Amino acid sequence: MAKIVVTGGLGYIGSHTVVELIANKHEVVIIDNLSNSEISVLDGINSISGIKPVFEEIDICDKDSLSSVFAKHMDIQAVIHFAAYKAVGESVEDSLLYYKNNVVGMINILECMKKYNVPHLIFSSSCTVYGQPEKLPVTEEAPIQKAMSPYGNTKQICEEIISDAIHSYHSFSTILLRYFNPIGAHPSGLIGELPKGVPSNLVPFITQTAAGIRKKLLVFGDDYNTPDGSAIRDYIYVVDLAHAHVIATNRLLKQSNTQECEIFNLGTGKGVSVLEMISTFEKSTGKKIPYTIVDRRAGDIEQVWADTQSANKELGWKAGTSLQDVLASAWKWEKRIRQL
Ligand code: NAD
Ligand code: WQD
Repeated sequence: MAKIVVTGGLGYIGSHTVVELIANKHEVVIIDNLSNSEISVLDGINSISGIKPVFEEIDICDKDSLSSVFAKHMDIQAVIHFAAYKAVGESVEDSLLYYKNNVVGMINILECMKKYNVPHLIFSSSCTVYGQPEKLPVTEEAPIQKAMSPYGNTKQICEEIISDAIHSYHSFSTILLRYFNPIGAHPSGLIGELPKGVPSNLVPFITQTAAGIRKKLLVFGDDYNTPDGSAIRDYIYVVDLAHAHVIATNRLLKQSNTQECEIFNLGTGKGVSVLEMISTFEKSTGKKIPYTIVDRRAGDIEQVWADTQSANKELGWKAGTSLQDVLASAWKWEKRIRQL
């Protein structure tokens, strides 16, 4: 058991990870400024796990406040750093907002970890760093491509900052986790994704269409070089992803006096097309999804899925939940928040 700081712990992936950390007997301190989450998520975590973790309503860009959290909890052993802005389109419109929040926030975390001798860090990175890879499935060794958006660039910059920063610490081990497309919600239906305004990701669009909030789903392109013409991604269940964080945390906690930076892809290893997502959702929930094919979305890549051998072998982790069950969990969550 260890005391773990989870930045962005009331957000989508963070909240699911907090639940799994608590189930594994870790003590969690959540730092979140509620810029993209709600305080009610804390109740959801409490209802699932029977424990209400310590919550510090802090902006990680406010270094003095951040530092005060580290000073208050002198026995922190690791930080899982989720807190960041993540809307690709918004990052194009207001890039400085993204560089400031995601990069300055990251530097503040690293400085506090150094000041208070916190030796372990897990960072939320993204498959976006690979762009459209030449070879599929994509391994961690694939070349990083020029970012398609300021958001994607913040992930690349933060990865570089971390891998440089380890050399300025006496003992600092880190794991960079590159998520593919996280989807679904906790099986209890008590926590899930809370997209503010119009969502940008596929699954919230599908569930909102099923709920009647949207008349139909727009499928962006059916002329890709894929079996059914629609784009392919690797959709990973958020609870499987949360498990991987616990395993990564426990791996780091066993290390001492190292200066290491490991990188793992977190996906299923299987690509699924947009049209397959729709048909699997329909099969799983019995809800029909009306859709229209429209032009490709600017900036979209054609297809990507993960080579997960390294995570399978080194972490002993594998995504196990079926896509049907994952999409059923997303629908259960949508029905709960819409009170259907
Ligand atoms: P999210 O927006 O649901 O969660 C992020 C949380 O961080 C929110 O609760 C928000 O309020 C908080 N936050 C943001 N800026 C903050 C700040 N300055 N100070 C304190 N709290 C702050 O996002 P998510 O989907 O859970 O993503 C978590 C992480 O994973 C992000 O770093 C994201 O870039 C990365 N990621 C997400 C995806 C995805 O598709 N969801 C894919 C790859 C990587
Ligand atoms: C998936 C597929 C769309 C909506 C984004 C970020 C990326 C990373 C993961 C954080 C694509 C299609 C979507 C719709 C559709 N996040 N689609 N109709 O594009 O893989 O990546 O999330 O790091 O940075 O850009 O995910 O869920 O937006 O789209 O046809 O209404 O669904 O074109 O092929 P994407 P997504």
